[in-house]
Amino acid sequence: MTIDSNIPSIGLGTYMMTPEEAEEMTYEAIKVGYRHIDTAEVYRNEQGVAKGIQKAISEGIVSRSDLFITTKVFPGNEMWGQDQKTYEDVIDSLNSSLKRLELDYVDLYLIHSAHADKTRIDQWKALLELKDKKRIIFAGVANWNIKHLQEINEIGLPLPDTNQIELHPWAQQPELVKYLKENNIHIIAYSSLVPLSTWRTKEGENSLKTKDMENEGSSEESLFKLLANKYNVKESQLLLQWALQQKFAILPKTIKIPRLKENFDFSFVIDEEDMLLIQNENKGGGITWEWGDPLLTN
Ligand SMILES: NC(=O)c1ccc[n+]([C@@H]2O[C@H](COP(=O)([O-])OP(=O)(O)OC[C@H]3O[C@@H](n4cnc5c(N)ncnc54)[C@H](OP(=O)(O)O)[C@@H]3O)[C@@H](O)[C@H]2O)c1
Repeated sequence: MTIDSNIPSIGLGTYMMTPEEAEEMTYEAIKVGYRHIDTAEVYRNEQGVAKGIQKAISEGIVSRSDLFITTKVFPGNEMWGQDQKTYEDVIDSLNSSLKRLELDYVDLYLIHSAHADKTRIDQWKALLELKDKKRIIFAGVANWNIKHLQEINEIGLPLPDTNQIELHPWAQQPELVKYLKENNIHIIAYSSLVPLSTWRTKEGENSLKTKDMENEGSSEESLFKLLANKYNVKESQLLLQWALQQKFAILPKTIKIPRLKENFDFSFVIDEEDMLLIQNENKGGGITWEWGDPLLTN
């Protein structure tokens, strides 16, 4: 069984949702047709996701086996005064997430970042053990760079099924993408909508997006606006289709019910010439994490 044939390419992102929002949006998304939900222990909304899932199951809309549920263990970051999680801590984290999610397994479990420089190999071994015991179906990482992945490879451990990374036209990560493709590591793109002027505009929704980027995103001359007009689609749809065309899974997050549909509806293809134009928009690293791009972790 491979992740490529099991992971639904469009998942609902839930970062920055309250438990109540996560409950409502999970349920509404499942009604729209989403079968993949992405949460994490640090999002503090796994209980809301659980309620949304239970509601959809109890109404007979889906059964558990139709769904692909992802959660993540936060590895611990000493720069933030946290201990690096041990092998046992990771097992405990999964058990706590399963309890909050009211599930007996998750489809995908991710180590949220590579910040635990001293224990990340042990953390990876814990995920392999959990996979072996079928508490998780697929084991992956998020925000790991080539060096982090090579560390695993060099000691003869299997590579992750997936790497979830910030990926959009302004942060295209060509070297990392090439490495992941060559090593059959499925790519999940997060924060696909960064170039939109409506991306994380509410109070407290912090990131490293600069004023210049905001201005560029709202300009009528922006390539994404021009191409969205050309294909007669929303700019959000153009950005999401750009990822889907490269076989990346996507995780658009919204708390607005009408947007669930538009983030799930793709019946157009961006032609090769326009894909090349978008390729020229790369600016370099990620800007989603307000504390700095996690791919730069040692
Ligand atoms: N592993 C990691 O480190 C990591 C990091 C970041 C994200 N993620 C995952 O990836 C998911 C997506 O990333 P993200 O939350 O950063 O950003 P995103 O999905 O790229 O964008 C969300 C932002 O765009 C707005 N939006 C959504 N759909 C829209 C549409 N159709 N038209 C206009 N605006 C729209 C949302 O506002 P409204 O909510 O008001 O609609 C929100 O401000 C997360 O929720 C999380 O599950 C993982």
